[in-house]
Amino acid sequence: MLQGKKIILGISGSIAAYKSAFLTRLLIKAGAEVQVLMTPSAQDFITPLTLSTLSKRPVYSEVSSETGWNNHVELGLWADAMLIAPVTATTLAKLANGLCDNILVAAYLSARCPVFFAPAMDLDMWHHPATRHNVERLISYGNQLIPVGVGELASGLSGEGRMAEPEDIVAYLERFFAQKQDLAGKKILLTAGPTYEPIDPVRFIGNRSSGKMGIALADAAARRGAEVTLILGPSKLTPQEKAVKLIKVETAQEMHDAAVQLFPQMNAAILAAAVADYRPKTVATEKIKKKGEELQLDLIKNPDIAADLGKMKQAGQLLIGFALETNDEESNAQGKLEKKNFDCIVLNSLRDAGAGFNHDTNKISILFRNNKKRDFELKSKNAVAEDILQAMIDLFNV
Ligand code: CTP
Repeated sequence: MLQGKKIILGISGSIAAYKSAFLTRLLIKAGAEVQVLMTPSAQDFITPLTLSTLSKRPVYSEVSSETGWNNHVELGLWADAMLIAPVTATTLAKLANGLCDNILVAAYLSARCPVFFAPAMDLDMWHHPATRHNVERLISYGNQLIPVGVGELASGLSGEGRMAEPEDIVAYLERFFAQKQDLAGKKILLTAGPTYEPIDPVRFIGNRSSGKMGIALADAAARRGAEVTLILGPSKLTPQEKAVKLIKVETAQEMHDAAVQLFPQMNAAILAAAVADYRPKTVATEKIKKKGEELQLDLIKNPDIAADLGKMKQAGQLLIGFALETNDEESNAQGKLEKKNFDCIVLNSLRDAGAGFNHDTNKISILFRNNKKRDFELKSKNAVAEDILQAMIDLFNV
């Protein structure tokens, strides 16, 4: 997978820099071309001679040197990927703030390729809010975090903060290059999970949605290069892909407000949430006490997120809905497709074994505006997510 790939390996000054020699060797062995860039302090931990011998190229550590100007702009355009490993807390802060005082940061700012960063630091430094903030910022710029390992640290402490092992870093890159990046540059909004509508401080009206299908879609879209924002109702699950921007909500109203605010900046929205259609008219401030044989709850209608986004939709934006039906499946789904101004709707029937809430599998049909329909076999929710994204990509390309 890395055969012929051009990779900038940026090394900053951490004790983990000794692993960069092995990392360089593994990348070269996998067929990649490797251009090493070092921060000045990285040279305190490993020599440029070691790395230039292994990478079979000169190593750069300054923007200009006795031999002339080292063109970081050209390097940024040359690379298929930039891998910064190890990233120290200082380099992390520089990258997050665009503080360009060495060739590594200069190449990073000039790079048009995907950037991966593998931090290495002591556990308290790793958990410090400043570091957390810088990591989140780098992720929000579309860079990919290669998660830190857990174990013995150079300080003698034990915990999170070790740089990922070179084999794992190479495997991460290989997975990335194996994956089609056909959603790169697209901004996708997703809703997923149930909503909880409070009755009193301890009770709510909810539903059995696990959020699995929407989370699988968010992960799959992020792996295909999209910038994904997931508005997730109360679910025990969370996305695996660190690049997914997660907004947690409880109620339909909160989900609605977040979706309406974000939709104008999006290329597409996929609405997989099982939104409560009604909520209690009043929410008791104290726990409701048991009285009498019957209890009456008055419910009022929640906003319809899909219908409101359907009204806001502009040319070039796509809106994809879900319909989970128990009867008259196709005509119900067709009705929702038109009423909510969806471009296509994913139909699953509760009559199909293995489909719907809480299963790891799903069996879907996708209905389009031109009365076309595509039926799919029973598959894992991850595989179903790929089919739905493919349908979306086909619609983008029409
Ligand atoms: N939906 C939404 N907001 C709502 C209700 C539904 O965004 N308040 C979205 C769902 O996420 C789904 C689609 O609309 O993508 C269809 O949901 P469904 O509950 O089947 O539609 P309803 O209009 O509520 O129809 P029904 O009468 O069958 O409940």
